[in-house]
Amino acid sequence: MYARILLIVFTSSAIAQNLNTFGIGLSSHWLYSKETELFNYTLSEGSSFGVLTHFWTTGDPAIDESVFSYYIDGESVPSIQFVTYMLVGAGFNDQTTPWGTKWIGKGAKYGGWYNNFRVPFQRSIRITGKLPAIKNNRKMIWIILRGTENLPTNFYGFQLPSNARLVLHKIENQTFHPISWVPLVDIPSGQGLLFAHTLAVMSGNLNFLEGCYHAYTKYQDEFPGLIVSTGTEDYFDSAFYFNAGQYHNEISGYTHYKELSNNVYEWSAYRIHDLDPIFFTNGFRFHWRNGDVIDENGYKCILNQGGSIVGAPTQSIVTSYTWTYIW
Ligand SMILES: *[C@@H]1O[C@H](CO)[C@@H](O)[C@H](O)[C@H]1NC(C)=O
Ligand SMILES: *[C@@H]1O[C@H](CO)[C@@H](O)[C@H](O)[C@H]1NC(C)=O
Repeated sequence: MYARILLIVFTSSAIAQNLNTFGIGLSSHWLYSKETELFNYTLSEGSSFGVLTHFWTTGDPAIDESVFSYYIDGESVPSIQFVTYMLVGAGFNDQTTPWGTKWIGKGAKYGGWYNNFRVPFQRSIRITGKLPAIKNNRKMIWIILRGTENLPTNFYGFQLPSNARLVLHKIENQTFHPISWVPLVDIPSGQGLLFAHTLAVMSGNLNFLEGCYHAYTKYQDEFPGLIVSTGTEDYFDSAFYFNAGQYHNEISGYTHYKELSNNVYEWSAYRIHDLDPIFFTNGFRFHWRNGDVIDENGYKCILNQGGSIVGAPTQSIVTSYTWTYIW
């Protein structure tokens, strides 16, 4: 008994010693149409890894369209580069507010975008911001960034390896034909987990929502792989084309809907997988379909080609952010 208590005290104090929290809060700062450094941080001597834990920003509406880049461990091409509205899972710069979950949200009429995804690094992290091309070449930003050295990341019984990296896989404004496959993630080798996904679609009607999600948890796995959902809205924890309206729940949200005058529909949703991670063991493919088909018995999600198209999905313009941890 006595020995066990001693051991616990010793272990926790040894870990706690190196929990250096770092960060910045920049107020009334300028952002330019030229990429500008907002923050850089190199691990203290003796620390083995660090993790960014918080991002928040507000300011001029141009901030909403600005691009933020995270350069991990001296990367020349950032493994994470985003606009704020997609970072919080709200397509088409949806300004609905206030809402929030522990991971993402928007807490003000103008800006107030935040994200608490864990972004691990081994040596350094460098963060930049860049305005969209605008006439006036600077706009005001307020930004808070924070992290901690040697802080482990746990998801309900699973601890991320300390060498894990968060990678953002993007599709931006790409056009897909009806019932074509949309390759959201393509990682030829390695292990990891699917952490979060946001999909934003512009289409001629809502029949794209018939599309099923498939995960191939080993790169070479064949269709249908792991059937992750039986339709698009089902993946986001709703049903029947989201007939209960919009919501911002902890692990899923239906964040945007707009019917434009010329028979064009905008829609977006997010899904966080911290509670039900999808692990991959030897490469990974994650696919969504722009609409779907049924076989002769009326079953969906089980035909790769052929079959009868459900409804009349049209061409869609797709933007997607999919976040994986890889190690
Ligand atoms: C990192 O930021 C510091 C100020 O905090 C600055 O002096 C230094 O030049 C920056 N380093 C790089 C590589 O940009
Ligand atoms: C995608 O298209 C929208 C609407 O035209 C535009 O506002 C946005 O900047 C585009 N995104 C990218 C990454 O090109």
